[in-house]
Amino acid sequence: MSHTIVIFGASGDLTSRKLIPALYLLHKKGRLPESTRVVGVARTEFSHDAWREDLEQTTQKFTGDSFDAAAWNTFASQVYYQPGDLQKSDDMDRLASFLNELDGGGATRIYYLSTMPKLYPIAVEMIGAAGMADQSQGPRRVVIEKPFGTDLTTAQQLNARVHKVFAEDHVYRIDHYLGKETVQNLLVLRFGNSIFEPLWNRNYIDHVQITVAEEVVVGRRGGYYDTSGVMRDMVQNHLLQLMMITAMESPVRFDASMVRGEKVKVLQAIRPMHGADFAENTIRGQYKGYLSEEGVPADSQTATFTALKLWVDNWRWQGVPFYLRSGKAMSCRTTQIVIQYKEPPLTLFEHCQSMEGNRLVIQIQPAEGLQVHIQSKVPDAGMRTRTTDLDFRFRRQFAGDMPDAYQRLLLDAIQGDASLFARSDEVELAWGIVDPILAAWNSPAASELMQYEPGGWGPEESAEWMYKQGRQWFDVCPVLH
Ligand code: BG6
Repeated sequence: MSHTIVIFGASGDLTSRKLIPALYLLHKKGRLPESTRVVGVARTEFSHDAWREDLEQTTQKFTGDSFDAAAWNTFASQVYYQPGDLQKSDDMDRLASFLNELDGGGATRIYYLSTMPKLYPIAVEMIGAAGMADQSQGPRRVVIEKPFGTDLTTAQQLNARVHKVFAEDHVYRIDHYLGKETVQNLLVLRFGNSIFEPLWNRNYIDHVQITVAEEVVVGRRGGYYDTSGVMRDMVQNHLLQLMMITAMESPVRFDASMVRGEKVKVLQAIRPMHGADFAENTIRGQYKGYLSEEGVPADSQTATFTALKLWVDNWRWQGVPFYLRSGKAMSCRTTQIVIQYKEPPLTLFEHCQSMEGNRLVIQIQPAEGLQVHIQSKVPDAGMRTRTTDLDFRFRRQFAGDMPDAYQRLLLDAIQGDASLFARSDEVELAWGIVDPILAAWNSPAASELMQYEPGGWGPEESAEWMYKQGRQWFDVCPVLH
């Protein structure tokens, strides 16, 4: 069957930076199904050729050494452009006719919404009104970029409006973290091996740390970021996704319904916070200099850093805190999950450093891999021990670069596999966790917004908070090679 990918918001940054390079690289690797067409839709007037020329330049820039003119030309011959305003029914009717001429109507259609988020509901409605969501002609799917709503209410409203046109099975909500190889490898690590799973529970694990640290500041995205902040920008989606995959039970099959069913149960088990819990279990910070960023109001209270303690009330995780932490302007870019094991029940040996329990450090990026930290005997030093590690790196074991997340996600959407996309209940439950925290932060009784110096690990209070709980953040920038 042939496929047509229709990108709304074709003149935007995401299209040229991520979507087209990903589709081109899939084509070059021979992964795109034969006769896959790409149609860009935006208001700007462009001819097919003018758009292709523009895309050639940007794709060359974003794919670097992987760019190959011959492969590009065969790909570009299947790329089209249809000018139009998705809010105008005439334009959408014209688009519908153009698509029918192009693929005869029987192709699998993927409508990718890469527009401004406020246009998502209207885009879906107009797709429906123009007869482009008619499943009797061929599969019709819609891919929706984040943010999916700005709180629970808006997410529910958006889901309701989307569901009037597309049944849930045809909706693919992107969280690009799920497209990362190392995030998928976490599923393989847990459920494709037998040595980790018996130790993956409250009997052996003291706590879990999930850190998504970014060295970058908000820069030119200040206007957007200030309305979002770290909770909406990172926690509601990426961090909770990492937490779900770390904490979920094994699905009985690797398919969209089973995988997402298990993930959702984790969110359902997260203990709601009340009253003093918010001050005890959340820290929020803002990097010094944020208020001078373009588009940021001078009195902004938006958090650019947060650390949270969440409890998962189920048999596996009772009593094991999950610490989630994310921030901009941190000391380095690192996304890592640390499984901190309990200390041995009896101390028999003398330690060179302070005693550390075993640790499994899962490096999501940029030093993709994992390390197991174990105590080893220091040679020729009696029975003294020191923490050493077993170090697995993707780059050492596998040739080639890690593909960008969008390659996997676009291919899955084309093939109709929604396992790595967020389901409606998942998105709503995630907002249900984040909304009360944001409300508490906005209330008069809110704990203070801490200032922090760029280039560190967030506010000092974050480290002190961990010490008080007898724990310590794993503040280590990964060595890349
Ligand atoms: C995006 C956020 O969803 O994820 C950005 O909006 C953030 O603020 C980005 O920088 C991080 O993605 P990655 O893949 O670079 O870790």
